[in-house]
Amino acid sequence: MSTDPLDAAAFAALLERTAGDILLIIDDQLRITRAGAGAAVLTQRPAGELIGMSLIAAFGSAPLDALARRAASERSPSLGEADLGPRGGRAFAVDAVPLTGGELVLALHEITALRRAERVRRDFVTNISHELRTPLASVKLMAETLSAGAVEDAATAGQFAVQIEREVDHLAQLVAELLDLSMIESGETTLRLEPVDPTTVIADVAERIGPVAARRGIAVQLLPEPEGVEARVSADAGRLGQALLNLAHNAVKYNRPGGEVRLGWESSAGGVRFTVADDGIGISEPHQQRIFERFYKVDRSRAQESDDATGGGSAGLGLAIVRHIAEAHGGSVGVRSVEREGSVFWVELPLAGPA
Ligand SMILES: Nc1ncnc2c1ncn2[C@@H]1O[C@H](COP(=O)(O)OP(=O)(O)OP(=O)(O)O)[C@@H](O)[C@H]1O
Ligand SMILES: [Mg+2]
Repeated sequence: MSTDPLDAAAFAALLERTAGDILLIIDDQLRITRAGAGAAVLTQRPAGELIGMSLIAAFGSAPLDALARRAASERSPSLGEADLGPRGGRAFAVDAVPLTGGELVLALHEITALRRAERVRRDFVTNISHELRTPLASVKLMAETLSAGAVEDAATAGQFAVQIEREVDHLAQLVAELLDLSMIESGETTLRLEPVDPTTVIADVAERIGPVAARRGIAVQLLPEPEGVEARVSADAGRLGQALLNLAHNAVKYNRPGGEVRLGWESSAGGVRFTVADDGIGISEPHQQRIFERFYKVDRSRAQESDDATGGGSAGLGLAIVRHIAEAHGGSVGVRSVEREGSVFWVELPLAGPA
C-alpha cells in the first residue's frame, strides 16, 4: 500500500462502506488481513473475527478462492464471478489485484439485480416462444391439410377454417396484450386522470362481463354501494375499466358451474378498494404470490380448457396488466383466496383530491 496517509484514510473509508463495492485485503496465503463493514455484512461475522481467517472459511466460495489463488500465483489481476452471502444468494463480479508486498486487494461488485433481470428476460423469451409455438403449430397443420386437398367435404374444411381463425385470434390477442403491457410498463401510456365515480365504473364492468358470464351460466351480482360515502377515485376511467374487466373475466373463467361473480367497492385506507369475488376453484397460497407475474398460470391445461368456453385467449398476462395499471395510478392489487371456495381480487386506488 502507499504510505500516503490520505490514501490510507481513503482506503479505510472504502472498507467501511456497506453499500456499493466491497473491498478486502488478503495475504499471499489467502488469509484476510483487512476487512470492513461491507465484508462483515456479507459474511454475517463481525469484521474483527474475519481477520486471519482463510478466504474459503470466511466466504465458503470455491470460485472466489480459485480466483484469488490465480491472481496470487500469477501476480497479475484476475477477474471472475462468485455467488456469496447466505446460501450464495448474492452474485458478485470479483476483481483480485496483487499489491507489491504480496497481498491482494479483492474488490467485490454486486451484480445480483443484473442477474435477476437477465433471468426475467430469458424466462420472458422462453414463455413467449411457448405461447406462440402452440397456436402456430396447429394453424400450420390445419393449413397444410387444407392445401393438400385432404379435406374433401366442405363442412370439414369449414370447421378447419373456423379453428384457424380462432387460433389466429388467440395470437392477435396475445400480441395486443404484450404491446399493452410493454407500453404500460415503460410508462409510455399517459393516464388521463380524472375524478371517477366508483359505482359507475363497477356498473359498466358488470354490463360488459354480463354476456360472457351468461354464456357460462354464471350470475353477476352488484354489491350494494357503501352507504353515505361520496368517494371519487383519481383514475383513467378506460384503464381502470380494463383492469376490472380482466379480473371479472378471470372470475367467470375460473368459476364453477352455477357460480357467481360479485362486483363492488368499499372505502379503504388507501382510498377506494374495488373487489371482484367469485365462487370458483380458488388459488393456493404459494400460487397467490406469483399469479401477478407475466405468463404465470396455475394450471396450464385448466386455463386452456376454460378458455374454449369463454372464447378468450389465455396467455397469463391479464393479472400482470391489472397490476401495472393499478401501480401506474399509485395504487395496488391483491387477492384473498381459499382453494375450491373462491377468490376475491381487489384493486385499490387513491381518492381524487379536492378539485
Ligand atoms: N379468479 C380466479 N380464480 C382462480 N384462479 C385464478 C383467478 N384469476 C386468475 N387465476 C389464476 O391466475 C393465473 C393468471 O391469471 P391471468 O389473468 O394473468 O392469466 P390468464 O387468465 O391465464 O390469461 P389472460 O388473462 O392473459 O387471458 C390464471 O392462469 C389462473 O391460474
Ligand atoms: Mg386472465
